[in-house]
Amino acid sequence: MNGSTTWAILVAAGSGERLGADRPKAFIALGERVLLAESLERLDASAWIDAVVVAVPPAWEEAAIVLAEELVASKVAAVVPGGVTRAASVRAALVEIPDDALVVIVHDAARPLIDDAMIERVLGPLAEGYDGVVPGLPLADTVKRVERGLVVETLDRSALVAVQTPQAFTATALRSAYAGPDPAGATDCASFVEARGGRIRVVAGDTRLLKITTGADLALVESWLGEPPPG
Ligand code: CTP
Ligand code: MG
Repeated sequence: MNGSTTWAILVAAGSGERLGADRPKAFIALGERVLLAESLERLDASAWIDAVVVAVPPAWEEAAIVLAEELVASKVAAVVPGGVTRAASVRAALVEIPDDALVVIVHDAARPLIDDAMIERVLGPLAEGYDGVVPGLPLADTVKRVERGLVVETLDRSALVAVQTPQAFTATALRSAYAGPDPAGATDCASFVEARGGRIRVVAGDTRLLKITTGADLALVESWLGEPPPG
C-alpha cells in the first residue's frame, strides 16, 4: 500500500435492529444487490480514494470479501469484524490504516448513494487547515429540547444542521480522537474530534445520502437507484 494517502473506512457492522430484517442491514437487498455493494463499489471507483477498510458484523467477513471480489473492488485493503458500537467498529478499522495515511474518510454503509462530488466536497476544506469536514443539511422541523416530556426550550433552527457521512479527517486528528475514551453522547466521528478541540467544517449535505433506518427509507433510496444525481 505504498503511496496510499487517502483511506476510506466503510462502517457496515451494525445489526440493523430498527429495520428488523433476518440479517445485518449491510447484507439486505437494495435493488439487485446487497446494500453494502452500492457504497463499496462507489468508494472503490472514486479517484479520490486510495484504499478502503470495511467493518462488518463478526462472521460476515467472508461474505464481504466475496462481495469485494465480485465487484472487483481492488482497493479493499482489509475487512475487519466491527464492534458492539459504531465507535468500536471505527476503532477496529483504524488499526488497519498505515502510518503514512494522510486523510481518512469515514462513511456509513447505511447511506448507499455516496458520490464523487460529495467526496470532493468533504476533502476540499482539509487543505485549509480544518481537522474534519462533515456534510450537513438544514432542518425542516422546529426543534425543541425536552426533559421528562416538558419542553425546556425551542432551539434556533437556523443555527442547526443534521449531519451525514462521508466525514473526512486528517489521519492524525481521527487517530488521536479515537485513542481516548468515547466522549459522552458522541454518535458520529466528528463528535470524537470535537471533544478533543478539533475544528470541524460543515459543507452542504445531500438529501440522497439519507441513512437507511426503516423499511420506508429502504424503499425511498431504492427508488433513487440509477437516477442521475439532482442538478
Ligand atoms: N455500525 C457499525 N457498527 C456498529 C453499529 C453501527 O459499523 N456496532 C454502522 C452501521 O453498519 C451503519 C452505520 O454505522 O452503516 C450507522 O449505523 P445505524 O444506521 O444505526 O445502523 P445499525 O446500527 O445497523 O441500525 P440499528 O441502530 O437500527 O440497529
Ligand atoms: Mg445503530
